[in-house]
Amino acid sequence: MATRRVLVTGCSSGIGLAVAVRLAKDELQRFKVVATMRDVEKRAALETAAGETLGRSLEIHQLDVCCEDSIRECVNSLPGRRLDILVSNAGMGMIGPLECQSVKCMQDVFNTNFFGLVRLVKEVLPDMKRRQSGHIVVMSSVMGIQGLLFNDVYAASKFAVEGLCESLAVQAMTFNIKMTLVEPGPVLTEFERKVYEDAQNMDLSGTDDETARIFREIYLPYSGKVFSSLGQRPEEVAEQILELIVSKDPPFRHQTNRLYTPMTAMKHADPTGRLPLDAFYRIIFQHDRLFNASLGFMRFLQKRMTKSKV
Ligand SMILES: NC(=O)c1ccc[n+]([C@@H]2O[C@H](COP(=O)([O-])OP(=O)(O)OC[C@H]3O[C@@H](n4cnc5c(N)ncnc54)[C@H](OP(=O)(O)O)[C@@H]3O)[C@@H](O)[C@H]2O)c1
Repeated sequence: MATRRVLVTGCSSGIGLAVAVRLAKDELQRFKVVATMRDVEKRAALETAAGETLGRSLEIHQLDVCCEDSIRECVNSLPGRRLDILVSNAGMGMIGPLECQSVKCMQDVFNTNFFGLVRLVKEVLPDMKRRQSGHIVVMSSVMGIQGLLFNDVYAASKFAVEGLCESLAVQAMTFNIKMTLVEPGPVLTEFERKVYEDAQNMDLSGTDDETARIFREIYLPYSGKVFSSLGQRPEEVAEQILELIVSKDPPFRHQTNRLYTPMTAMKHADPTGRLPLDAFYRIIFQHDRLFNASLGFMRFLQKRMTKSKV
């Protein structure tokens, strides 16, 4: 079977690193991985994890999703510009009260999470159309389906990603190109550390005392508990991405964490939108004990599911 070339963005850490390494170490050697990062000075973690696959099934290239020239240069450097699979993973988070965030910072989030994807797709789609084959795998989030308190701009950027892909997917089908949105819940990566560090240092003087209190005393502890109870390892997400890529008929949407599915299902269950809003409000503000007990139960289920897979 011919090897397929996969380009992954954002491989300096987290999910991108795990995906690049998992594909490079594929037992059936089905992939040549172009693992990209915007700053190749940060390559050490990937090199260590890649081990002996480095220079064989995995190459490291520079690619900044915010710079069209760097994307073009990277794709031009591939033999025949051939790319079978794109994993658009690079992204950044943002949390906090909207009135404390500058429009410039919000634009940076969109420039990376949304326009980064747009730039990549513009570069690779025409070649895939000509070849009538290809698979574009896009790292979205459960927050691309359901917004969450104090994640306003991040969720909006992932909603934009979902809207773009949902629209493009139909056209892609005409050219035999597959598209898949991967929608993780919380994943234990640098992402979480970076947004919490920003949150701890955030100047909350731009908002009222009550909003600042809700953010610090309710939202941050709530979110910390969700991550520690439901958080997946990036390797689990990478394993699922491998399965999606090798599938003959990959789904358009794939949620990586089954424990999170009931939260997103509420959105589709009630077209008025009241059900998920009321549920989130109650969970966060009114039923602290019930919330803690359910997280304990979910942590138990998560452990059992992980064990049963080993
Ligand atoms: N962790 C979660 O809970 C979670 C949940 C759902 C979805 N996601 C999504 O999963 C994806 C990966 O996140 P992660 O959790 O693995 O976080 P991470 O460890 O912080 O990785 C993010 C990666 O994106 C890179 N990146 C940022 N801006 C870039 C740019 N302009 N050009 C190229 N690369 C850039 C980062 O590079 P630097 O090292 O140079 O910053 C890093 O390699 C993101 O799209 C995120 O939205 C994460």
